[in-house]
Amino acid sequence: MEVYCGLCGEKSHQLFSHLREVHEMRPEKYQERCPGAPLISEDLAAYIREQRIVASDKGLKKKTELFGVEFLTDILPGELVPEVDECYVFDEGLARQILISLREGEKILLVGPTGCGKSTLVEQLAARLNWPVVRVAASGGVTESDLLGEWTVQDGETTYNYGFLPRAMKMGAICLIDEIDGIEPSVAFSIHQVMEARGKLVLLQNGGEIIEPHENFRLVTTANSLGHGDETGLYAGIKVLNAAFLDRFASVFEMSYMPPPLEAQIVRNRAPSCTKAMARTLVKVATDVRKAREEDQIFCTFSTRRLIELARKYSQLGEFSAALQLAVLSRLQQSDRQVVSEIFQRHLGDVL
Ligand SMILES: Nc1ncnc2c1ncn2[C@@H]1O[C@H](COP(=O)(O)OP(=O)(O)O)[C@@H](O)[C@H]1O
Ligand SMILES: [Mg+2]
Repeated sequence: MEVYCGLCGEKSHQLFSHLREVHEMRPEKYQERCPGAPLISEDLAAYIREQRIVASDKGLKKKTELFGVEFLTDILPGELVPEVDECYVFDEGLARQILISLREGEKILLVGPTGCGKSTLVEQLAARLNWPVVRVAASGGVTESDLLGEWTVQDGETTYNYGFLPRAMKMGAICLIDEIDGIEPSVAFSIHQVMEARGKLVLLQNGGEIIEPHENFRLVTTANSLGHGDETGLYAGIKVLNAAFLDRFASVFEMSYMPPPLEAQIVRNRAPSCTKAMARTLVKVATDVRKAREEDQIFCTFSTRRLIELARKYSQLGEFSAALQLAVLSRLQQSDRQVVSEIFQRHLGDVL
């Protein structure tokens, strides 16, 4: 059942736009004129309750609960919001802890071996919360201009082009800096300012402009090593993170590869023709390779990314040894190749 406009009798489920467009009147004024007259229909009110939509001075928001943590999220799809990946498998305990830190506005560092799922975890949480993500890969080197911005000349006019950090701060995005241990300490230094709670950014390059962080701005960084330089020799180009910098992270989450049943599930989600038994065996192989790495028998490790690629290649080619060669062995140095091949032989001798 719709409601009637007390001024002209027009029927609608909500009178807000009608009042604005036809009577050029704000809802408060209407309520003064027609005391007690409803602005929205019962049906719409029920829908809003069901959708858990709330109106506040920040506009219409939706109450979204993810792993028991409640957020007020935007209703409309936003630019830069990652796409939901239905195949993504969450480690619920970890997801919940990260969500709590995100809600509290803490600066977050995720540490873990390459390809264990650090970046995708942040993206998939953001996707479900309709939260934009400005993502930067620091491993390739990030300059101060990338980070903060620079003056550019276009059609004879000079304008300041904001870098990814002020952009994320203004927009209220999660700024995801991948592999922050690849960032030069001199560049990392300019991030110090925003590491404080509600820290502002002073852009000296732009006449000292002060960038206030939007309330939804968050800083999440990932690293392969704990910022003490690379102890494993696996990651080239890693810089030692300044201790003062590390100290500013309220939460440091140590991530590792997914527990075997979840990792097997991920492999099957990504390569659907891979059987349950095969996925389990592949995860066992990966676990053994990781163990060999820990025991210093080899230099390489075996990431979830590599497992997925192997399973996919196997699905495409239908021949395991060719898939293994292409997806795994061809990337390894000779001595590692030997050990990894033996581990495969042990678990999968019958298909090799
Ligand atoms: N929990 C997961 N569910 C589904 N796929 C995953 C999961 N974790 C990792 N992956 C896949 O593994 C690959 C590596 O993940 P990524 O987040 O890039 O790792 P990292 O950032 O730690 O290097 C990606 O292709 C990603 O899709
Ligand atoms: Mg990553």
